[in-house]
Amino acid sequence: MTDTALPPPVASPELQTRLATRRSAPAQALGDPGPTEAELEAILTLGARTPDHGKLFPWRFVVLGRESRAGISAQLEPLAERQPDPRKARAVLAKLTAPPVTVLVLSSPTPGHKVPVWEQELSAGAVCMNLEHAANAFGHAASWITDWYSYDPDAAALFGVAAGERIAGFIHMGTAAEPLLERPRPDLSAKVERRP
Ligand SMILES: Cc1cc2nc3c(=O)[nH]c(=O)nc-3n(C[C@H](O)[C@H](O)[C@H](O)COP(=O)(O)O)c2cc1C
Repeated sequence: MTDTALPPPVASPELQTRLATRRSAPAQALGDPGPTEAELEAILTLGARTPDHGKLFPWRFVVLGRESRAGISAQLEPLAERQPDPRKARAVLAKLTAPPVTVLVLSSPTPGHKVPVWEQELSAGAVCMNLEHAANAFGHAASWITDWYSYDPDAAALFGVAAGERIAGFIHMGTAAEPLLERPRPDLSAKVERRP
């Protein structure tokens, strides 16, 4: 519904802590349990609640169950041979097949629109991050990855990527089999400029 007054933001120490400690999981370490069907529906709804200039919703989701990912992975194996490091290209397929739930986010911008394609693509990236947050909100670990099969046209075609579309990311969700270890974070003083 539009024109409905929404509640203003309220200070939430819980959300602050979550944002301060959130972290992606290694996709290959994601296992059961993953989101239930009802949780996934809610996660997709929250993920789709993302800013985009022009209300174009320039992205779409493909929910990839384990069966379809296993089938695509088998078809990707021969394509891995032409990657610079075939052994590694084959090994990373575990990231695609291990997680219980995967949402493929496709950037599907409208070319020639007054909203630049760059801005539409940024919205697809924002959707990916929102999906991660939403999965976390339901108590699931998540991982946003692309990998070589997002950039090899023959590989991408196996996922049903249409002309003009690009893979923004695979958002894998599930339970991490290992602790999530902190990684280096940027030195804010090198990243933030303040002006009066
Ligand atoms: C657009 C994008 C693509 C990524 N592609 C890959 C990938 O192909 N393989 C991989 O292992 N991780 C990939 N990652 C995940 C990062 O390597 C890393 O795990 C993540 O940024 C950790 O962030 P966090 O600790 O803040 O959650 C990707 C992340 C982003 C944002």
